[in-house]
Amino acid sequence: MKFFIDTADTAEIRSLAASGLLDGVTTNPSLVAKTGKPFLDVLADICEQVPGPVSAEVAATDFDGMLAEARVLRGVAKNVAVKVPLIRACRRLADDGAMVNVTLCFSPAQAILAAKAGAAFVSPFVGRLDDVAEYGMSLIADIVQIFRNYPFKTEVLVASVRSPLHVAEAAKLGAHVCTMPPAVLRSLFNHPLTDKGLAAFLADWAKTGQRIV
Ligand code: E4P
Repeated sequence: MKFFIDTADTAEIRSLAASGLLDGVTTNPSLVAKTGKPFLDVLADICEQVPGPVSAEVAATDFDGMLAEARVLRGVAKNVAVKVPLIRACRRLADDGAMVNVTLCFSPAQAILAAKAGAAFVSPFVGRLDDVAEYGMSLIADIVQIFRNYPFKTEVLVASVRSPLHVAEAAKLGAHVCTMPPAVLRSLFNHPLTDKGLAAFLADWAKTGQRIV
């Protein structure tokens, strides 16, 4: 499963990219707003740091406006994936050779439409479904199962991830990509028993008085 990071914070991205674990980045207008910086500058900076797909969302709400914004976003770097909430715009952009991420997917039917419209990624938002008392992971299970029945090239990009459990569940289901906030990615490294075990090993090693080098 590929790991994407869901942030527009370039300092965070720089630090996590150094781990060698980042396969891509997703942003959205809320995340860009938090940076307080011009969107296109932020996008160019991210695309330079991470060679994998970097999702950048259009802000227009009409078809022509989305296509015009997509042109600008695609001009920033080759690894930009244009994020759109509209299937018709996805179809046109994909036909034009763009890498498209269909965002805000909340049903298997929407995911099928995205795949048929040539999306590179479809983003089901699991956390937001959990928030309204629907089990988000069952949407992932449905989409993964459906996509296995057909030769779709669209990758299931699990979004709105809130915890390490979401990441593990997404992997168990065979989702292609999981995008997560930096804090969730960092939390994957930790387990209290790892810390406890390491402390005990180091204490015992110190008693031997030996050094390896
Ligand atoms: C994905 O592309 C979105 O940017 C993101 O995962 C939304 O997450 P949220 O529901 O925590 O805002």
